[in-house]
Amino acid sequence: MNDRPIGVFDSGLGGLTVLKEIMKILPNENIVYFGDTARVPYGPRSKETVMKYTFQAINFLISKNVKAIVIACNTATARCLKEANEKYDIPILGVIEAGARTAAYSTKNKIVGVIGTEGTIRSKAYNLEIGKIDKDIRIIDKSCPLFVPIVEEGWANTDIASLTAKRYLKELVDENIDSLVLGCTHYPLLKRTIGQIVGEKVKLVNPAKETAKDLKKVLEANSVLRKDNSGVYEYYVSDIPEKFASIAGEFLKKEIKDIKTIEIQKY
Ligand code: DGL
Repeated sequence: MNDRPIGVFDSGLGGLTVLKEIMKILPNENIVYFGDTARVPYGPRSKETVMKYTFQAINFLISKNVKAIVIACNTATARCLKEANEKYDIPILGVIEAGARTAAYSTKNKIVGVIGTEGTIRSKAYNLEIGKIDKDIRIIDKSCPLFVPIVEEGWANTDIASLTAKRYLKELVDENIDSLVLGCTHYPLLKRTIGQIVGEKVKLVNPAKETAKDLKKVLEANSVLRKDNSGVYEYYVSDIPEKFASIAGEFLKKEIKDIKTIEIQKY
């Protein structure tokens, strides 16, 4: 039972930022990662479409006999975490509650920036979750739709990323934010570039670590924590694996081989 893997998915590479923290906090767990590379980005799509894609990803992961699932995508969390939990009976976690919690505890001046995809920002999911913790926190939010393609292209540390970040983030810095939620799992890959633009006084909040801690608690509560041996990792994508393999390998600092391509529409 405990050897059953954890399922983690995202529209593409972004979920790797969550995967990395899960690997650190839960090194014994086997993991199946799915990146929906055929249909990235999810950000500009409707709730119905994102929900359809998310349920297909969940169906695929369940076919791999997973014991829990992490939706390592803010857009899918914002659009349909609730619906996913109503539909399936295995534990399914998102990233937004964890990110909101981290932000609420990070801010001192109670002015928090939130950046994410159009879908996440439009949903106001972060505003809602942060407001539940501290209603006095003022939130300045902004969608940054070009960040995801820049990351998927492997351009996170280029002058193009830097110029784009400057354009998107200036207004948040002008509002005197002291914390900035990286409300899209792709964005921690741009951490260096974003950090240079907002300056070191602004704390960058990555929901990944808290999400991994939440996952550990859920596994403990369900008595399914794997305690022995190192975890084994499997990677699946829905289209061309080469670019995914090279960026993932660089980011996770390990060779990613044997990425399998699946037809996600079948699930
Ligand atoms: N990385 C995802 C997120 O956290 C999705 C980005 C996208 O596909 O637009 O929102």
